[in-house]
Formats: sequence, structure tokens, C-alpha cells
Amino acid sequence: MIQTISWNEGAVVMIDQRALPREERYLTCRAYQDVIDAINTMAIRGAPAVGIAAAMGIALGTLAVSKGQLETDFYRICEAFSRTRPTAVNLFWAIDRMKARFEGEMSAPHADEGDVKEALIDEARRIHEEDIEANRRMGGHGRSLIRDGDTILTHCNAGALATGGYGTALGVIRAAHEEGKKLHVLVDETRPLLQGARLTAWEMHREGISATLITDSMAGSLMRRGKVNCVLVGADRIAANGDTANKIGTYSLAVLAREHKLPLYVAAPVSTIDHRARTGREIPIEERGEDEVLAFHGTRIAPQGFHACNPAFDVTPSKYITAIITEKGIITKPFGRKIREIFRPHAI
Ligand code: MRU
Repeated sequence: MIQTISWNEGAVVMIDQRALPREERYLTCRAYQDVIDAINTMAIRGAPAVGIAAAMGIALGTLAVSKGQLETDFYRICEAFSRTRPTAVNLFWAIDRMKARFEGEMSAPHADEGDVKEALIDEARRIHEEDIEANRRMGGHGRSLIRDGDTILTHCNAGALATGGYGTALGVIRAAHEEGKKLHVLVDETRPLLQGARLTAWEMHREGISATLITDSMAGSLMRRGKVNCVLVGADRIAANGDTANKIGTYSLAVLAREHKLPLYVAAPVSTIDHRARTGREIPIEERGEDEVLAFHGTRIAPQGFHACNPAFDVTPSKYITAIITEKGIITKPFGRKIREIFRPHAI
């Protein structure tokens, strides 16, 4: 299995996704600022992976805190992670989990700083392990939606690299493949950072899953020619009504899928659902630097003095979504009620 991130003897080790697929190199982060830098520069990316990196980064930062400073420094480190990427809610979910564990440990009678630091490492590791387990469960549920012989269109990278391992959307594809279904994957290149061309293509190729790379603008024509059976993507934040933020371009695919009467499936762990956002309008969209659009592999492609906009995500209204695949089961419409239900004990 691809080892996206791990806790390794007091350091956070991650595969450097900026170098893929040319080179498989690993980054060793020994200070929490290195982890922040890795998130900001997209050495690690993808909603669940960013959450795991933040949890491990917080544990790492806390390890270096001197005696008596734990309480103030812990919250300062959490705050620094919360300023990295605004859209993927898994980041804030992971920070909240680390805070809850910290507060639980600190409130214990005779709390020992060394034990609190160990507990934070344990919590970060749990978040990682639980994510892999959630992905496998998602795959187990979602594979029933994939028919033998299907061609699946996917966008960005929602694979092992974007998670603790195995993947959300690609996890469903992996599970259907492992089950022996014959399938083909159309991989959107995903401008401007090419997560599809670089990362999804790399994952599919490594595992011998039949796949073809397409540019983002080819999707509509391929659908019209009957070359696509369904669209399957991940998510960065799902509002309480099912509206879903994912990589820019997902909304266009959703509208195209509706026009061509194709199902659109979203695969995401329940940690991606944000109850506080009632609709997609309340989801903050990250605006990244314009150089990512104006240049290609470091070479400027637009005239000097020209500007670009670069929203990293868009929101797909829930009316375009056929089903949301989670580790707790497949959610169908009406999403609002069913999302509330899965958070009740013993749901689905
Ligand atoms: O900007 P990125 O590469 O972090 O965006 C990633 C995506 O949009 C993924 O589709 C999403 O995080 C789901 S990952 C399981």
C-alpha cells in the first residue's frame, strides 16, 4: 500500500506529492513548521491527508514545548495549523479532536506533561488508522454502485495520496477492482496543479487498474459519445444539505452528468461533513496564488502583466448528486434528513 504519511520516531514522514510521478521521495518533518510548510506548498494535500498531517504536526510541535508552556503553546500550534487551508473541513475536524484529547488529558488529576504529549501522538495515530479503516469501509459500500464493465470518470486525486491510505473515490474504484469487476477509469488531468495527471494516473498505473488520461475539457464530449457510465469524486467539505465542495471543475462535471443522465457519486468519510455549514454557500473557498494558473511547470504561459484567478474548489449543489458514499453507508436523497440520521447512534 502507498504510505502517504507516517509518524516515525518523533518525526512526520510523508511522500512528497510535488515530485510525483517523476520521483518517489519522502519528506521528513522534524518541526511542526515543516508540516505547515508541507501543507501550504501541497507536498501533502487532499482533505483527509491534510487533517492527518495537522494532527501529527500538532503532536510533533507539542513534543518540543518546554515545561510549563504546554497550555499556551498547544493552542498557538493548533491556531497555526488552522490558518493553512480553509476549505477542507477535515483539517478543522482533526484540530478539534486533538483539542478534545488535550483537554481530557489535562483535566485528569495530577496530569503529567509527558503523558499528555504521548496521548497527543496516540490521538494523531488513531486519526490516521481510523481514516484508512473508513476508506476501506467506504470501498465496501460504494463498490455496489459500480457495474462490471463501467467506465468511471474521476476528478483530482481522491486516492491513497489524498487520505491516510486506500482512498475515498479511488478506494471505491480499488474495491470494485479487487472484487474482480472489469472497469476503466477516465482521469481528468485537473488544472492547474494536475493532481489527476500526476497523482491519480500514478496510483492507477501502479495498481494495474485500466485508466486513460483526459484534459478537463474533454469530459462533456466523451459523455455525449456514450463513453462514460458514472462520475465518482471525493469531497473537501459537505454541507448539512449535501452541497459538496471539491476540486474546481467538479461542478462543471456535475452539470454535464445531469445533462447526460449519468449518476454522480461523492465518496467521503463522515469527518468531511460540516453540520455548521447549512448549505454550500457557507463553505469558504480557498483562493490560491495566480502563478499556478499563469505558469505551467515553472514556465510562464500567459503574457507578462496578465492576471488570473485561482479558486481551488467549487461547490456542487446537492441536487446534482446521486449519492454520497460514507464509511457508515450510502446516503441518498433527501440528503439533509439522511445526513442527520447517520450521526445518531446506531444509524444506517
Ligand atoms: O487542493 P487539493 O489537491 O488538496 O484538493 C483535493 C481534492 O479536491 C480532493 O478531491 C478532495 O480532497 C477529496 S480527497 C479524498
